[in-house]
Amino acid sequence: MATDSTHTLSQYMEFASANIHAALDQWTQPQAGCPTVLEEAMRYVLLAPSKLLRPLLVFMASDACGQRSSATLANACAVEMIHTYSLIHDDLPAMDDDLLRRGQATCHVKFGEANAILAGDALLALAFQVVSSSETSAEIRAASCQALATAAGPCQLVGGQVDDLAAEHQAGDLDLLRQIHHRKTGAMFRVSLRLGAIAAAANNEQIAHLDAYGQLLGLAFQVVDDLLDCEGDQQQLGKQTGKDSEHGKLTYPSLMGIAASREYAEELIQQAQAELTVFGESASWLRQLAKIVLSRTN
Ligand code: IPE
Ligand code: IPE
Ligand code: MG
Ligand code: MG
Ligand code: MG
Repeated sequence: MATDSTHTLSQYMEFASANIHAALDQWTQPQAGCPTVLEEAMRYVLLAPSKLLRPLLVFMASDACGQRSSATLANACAVEMIHTYSLIHDDLPAMDDDLLRRGQATCHVKFGEANAILAGDALLALAFQVVSSSETSAEIRAASCQALATAAGPCQLVGGQVDDLAAEHQAGDLDLLRQIHHRKTGAMFRVSLRLGAIAAAANNEQIAHLDAYGQLLGLAFQVVDDLLDCEGDQQQLGKQTGKDSEHGKLTYPSLMGIAASREYAEELIQQAQAELTVFGESASWLRQLAKIVLSRTN
């Protein structure tokens, strides 16, 4: 959907989300060899009501760069599969030990711990199947796989999660916290933008600006996530609140306080929006989405 005055951001998001949801549904239909309990556990979290922010960023990045290709939808699905796997594992008793996710019992509560671990494993692998089988050039598929594997890997998402857990009940400073948030959350935001850009055959300058926008947006998103854990409404959020202080997590509110964390998130969003200047009108959706990250209540 092009950026024009006849469409609002919520119309854009509703339309794109329906498209993404339908494709995720298709990719997880019953298949020979896939045990029913595994298929159910994957679909239970993947298709539960959620914001679909990362796949929407893939769409918006392709739009900012002037075109979508069949890799746009494939890359969007893949990033959501990896995000969902990371949530299933993040909620496990060995990690954040949470009971509520996307407004329902967490995957391990519903299907047992072993099936939850395996559902996460399956979604991670499926993501790469999806990216590598999109109907586009071998170059686009290879670049997408490489970007996604790097963001999901040991130095980014997984490394950030390891350090997040290691920092529980430890003294830490803002530098360490920024590094954790950049990796555990920021990396998937950044790669969402990059995957949209790759799908649109973007140039290096476009990729660099989207990368900077994604990094700032991802950090702001996690600062707000930390704030919502303190101040949010569990019912609206669809996940437990007050868990970060219970686990002695290193968070922005714990280091800076609530008011300064909110100001910091606002500053980050302004900086993120400044990265979009080169795109002009075609980045209007990304500009508007950045504001939602600040005002969100779920
Ligand atoms: C939750 O992500 C995990 C974090 C990085 C804070 P979202 O808040 O985007 O969760 P969903 O995908 O909408 O459920
Ligand atoms: C998790 O951060 C980031 C992931 C990689 C899933 P959190 O642990 O703060 O996410 P929530 O609050 O459980 O959604
Ligand atoms: Mg966590
Ligand atoms: Mg958690
Ligand atoms: Mg959190």
